[in-house]
Amino acid sequence: MSITLGASILAADWSRMGEELAELEAAGIDYIHWDVMDNRYVPNLTFGWDMISACRSATTVPFETHLMAWETERDIAKYVAAGCERILIQPEAHIHVHNTLRVIREEGAEAGIALNPGTPLAMVEDLLPDITTLLVMTVNPGFGGQAFIETMLPKIEAARALVADRAPHVKIEIDGGLKPGNVAAGVEAGATMVICGSGLFGPEGKAAAIAAMKSGIASAGVTA
Ligand code: DX5
Ligand code: ZN
Repeated sequence: MSITLGASILAADWSRMGEELAELEAAGIDYIHWDVMDNRYVPNLTFGWDMISACRSATTVPFETHLMAWETERDIAKYVAAGCERILIQPEAHIHVHNTLRVIREEGAEAGIALNPGTPLAMVEDLLPDITTLLVMTVNPGFGGQAFIETMLPKIEAARALVADRAPHVKIEIDGGLKPGNVAAGVEAGATMVICGSGLFGPEGKAAAIAAMKSGIASAGVTA
């Protein structure tokens, strides 16, 4: 089974974001994960569709957007126009979550649901036909650089069992605190899409960091 590795760019040098993205592509990243935060749903403020659009030409790898923000249904078209192929939403932030997923699909993107550590898997059960991606958060949303919450491993396993039974087309993604030393556990639990943020921007450089993540993934007995 092939496992893909996406980069969260919260820990990048934002003054040279385009170059950072080009370097990530050259170093072998599979996709870019944009963490949109609104200073309301989470206590942090990042960027919106204009920033993503401005960076679209810097790389050819796919863009996905992780919306940690309230009431984004009216903004979906702007994120798709900015070049995002997949949009993940937090169900707590949408009164009519099923409807927001429909809007994402109608705008031409793939839709996904991101579950916070405290949000039960049951929240997504009725939405499986409407999504391609189920993101199990392994930190609380809001900041990069947090520690992986190990107690999420059984939840990833339960997510794998749920989609195997009811929606085999849905991929399981994990996001938060993933590093070469713990990524195998997440993949063994069932993730086939892995996000790494702060782990990619250390002094060893992007190529070494991505190689280390892929080798961690491979140690789970699968190839990235
Ligand atoms: C957390 C974000 C994550 C995270 C990834 O709110 O959704 O994408 O920052 O970064 P690291 O790998 O540093 O936890
Ligand atoms: Zn994220």
